[in-house]
Amino acid sequence: MKTRLTILLCVAAFALSVQAKEVPLLGNVMARETMSLNGEWNYIVDVQEEGYYDYRMNPTRWGFFQNAKPQRPEDLIEYDFDKAPKMKVPGDWNTQDDRLFFYEGTVWFKKSFQATPSAETRTLLYFGAVNYDCRVWVNTREVGHHIGGFTPFNYDISDYLKDGENVVIVKVDNKRKAEAVPTQIFDWWNYGGITRDVMLVKVPKTYIENFKLQLEKQSGPKAKKREISFKAWLSEKAAGQTVTLSIPELKVKLPLTTDAEGQVSTTFSVPAKMLQLWSPGNPKRYQVELSTTGDFLADSIGFRTIETRGKQILLNGQPIFLKGISIHEEKAHGGGRANSTADAHELLSWAQELGCNFVRLAHYPHNEYAVREAERMGILVWSEIPCYWTIAWTNPDTYANAERQLNDMIRRDQNRANIIIWSIANETPHSPQRDQFLGRLAQYARSLDQSRLISMAMEVTGASNYKNRLHDNMHEYVDVVSFNQYIGWYRDVNDAPKMEWEVPYDKPVIVSEFGGGARYGYHGAKNQRWTEEFQENLYIENTAMLDKIEGLCGTTPWILKDFRSPRRVLNGIQDYYNRKGLFSDNGEKKKAFYVLRDWYTKK
Ligand code: GCU
Repeated sequence: MKTRLTILLCVAAFALSVQAKEVPLLGNVMARETMSLNGEWNYIVDVQEEGYYDYRMNPTRWGFFQNAKPQRPEDLIEYDFDKAPKMKVPGDWNTQDDRLFFYEGTVWFKKSFQATPSAETRTLLYFGAVNYDCRVWVNTREVGHHIGGFTPFNYDISDYLKDGENVVIVKVDNKRKAEAVPTQIFDWWNYGGITRDVMLVKVPKTYIENFKLQLEKQSGPKAKKREISFKAWLSEKAAGQTVTLSIPELKVKLPLTTDAEGQVSTTFSVPAKMLQLWSPGNPKRYQVELSTTGDFLADSIGFRTIETRGKQILLNGQPIFLKGISIHEEKAHGGGRANSTADAHELLSWAQELGCNFVRLAHYPHNEYAVREAERMGILVWSEIPCYWTIAWTNPDTYANAERQLNDMIRRDQNRANIIIWSIANETPHSPQRDQFLGRLAQYARSLDQSRLISMAMEVTGASNYKNRLHDNMHEYVDVVSFNQYIGWYRDVNDAPKMEWEVPYDKPVIVSEFGGGARYGYHGAKNQRWTEEFQENLYIENTAMLDKIEGLCGTTPWILKDFRSPRRVLNGIQDYYNRKGLFSDNGEKKKAFYVLRDWYTKK
């Protein structure tokens, strides 16, 4: 059955199929020496994973990762990337190939690139995100396997590079699974593909892996000095290395020596009057530089404190009301994954038109451009991992996956001043197993970052006679008690004015979702579902109701714009869009937009 060529290939493949080392996430990759692999990639749609499994469903050594070419006329190779169509990376396949609009399965991607390996440097292959299950080969050798569709990962491929033409092949599978995070059902489009940037990153043999720089909370508003904590990690456990932290504008220059772990950490102070604090009204960032003998890393970082005091949220020691909106990571017009500063700027500008100082990036970590653009524009951020609805709470692999996503979300964005809340879940059913799973995640997040608030989107647990109660064991683990409620849409239409709320915890409250659907341009009576008047009235009644909730510190209504969802099938109205946007999927403002904008002007 198999020719001499294929046997040769198998021997070669076996010898070469050693797993490359996945290395801890590189911090601030955008400031590193990179070569982009974005652009046109060849792709092969492989519904039955013919390119990975043999007809006995065992992984095959003659898979598409071999990028094999017939050597002799009689050779049988039943795929050819170079004859295959191309699509853009970063991007999803659903909006680039009409045949793949609903497709969930495997697609293979191939890209050739030039490289000149050097003994002085290491080369990392960095992916901003790939949805969902991703296997990567460089020059036919497997370099790694990653699951999770919304966080970055990188491999050290130095030992796999050739001088000249190299080939990277990626198998992407976005099939939904019960044990996955998110699990099988979710109310957004399951965009598949290499959805964010791909780049080669050249680093010295020992490089600065990541660092954290935070303004300490202790230093109250009247303090003469402000305490800043700094920690940096090298890629090697190299003691005695000098890492110098410089913040020129603050006249900070601190040479530090690494410990046995290759780490440095210190706290230093700067005169309070010298330090402008980051805030929506003044999104001030400072040029920060780290240098070692072989490496240099810069970033622009803002300094602010965020904390709670009773039912208040304090930004830089001052109570703040979070005028927010929820956003999905979808391009402003016509759907498809957003993945650039321009995409982010458009969506965030709409949020600012609403009068927002805060956005909930739902329900998964959005791309780094979005977070950084929000920081530049002075917009506070709630960032979340997709523990959405009914996750497999008792499956240890599911927990490890969720914890890994939480780790990567925090490690990527730990220096972003505008991120104030890490959210670990959305609308999860109560059970001891769920509490144990989420409790561990909350503690894990706190172990990585004590400078931000922890929350999750809870659900109303009891409602009768217009009295709504929120009782959730997870209140113990969170700093902010947040919940979603859909009075006026999924229940109690027109009853919002009569509603009372009981949230029995001495913690700030955020209503993380409320809203209703409307088809832009569809007008009628305010009790006619799907009309703009119905949605407008719902917002009028809900905002008045929210004004009565004790301890309310903010809200992120659902949602900025209509977004694609396979769960929304009502023809002529939804057409696979969730229509709860205040903007249509073409950027047209619905009547409810003005209700929320006006309410925020009074806040
Ligand atoms: C839920 C959920 C959202 C969903 C929304 C809706 O609360 O968190 O993801 O889109 O409700 O039903 O529109």
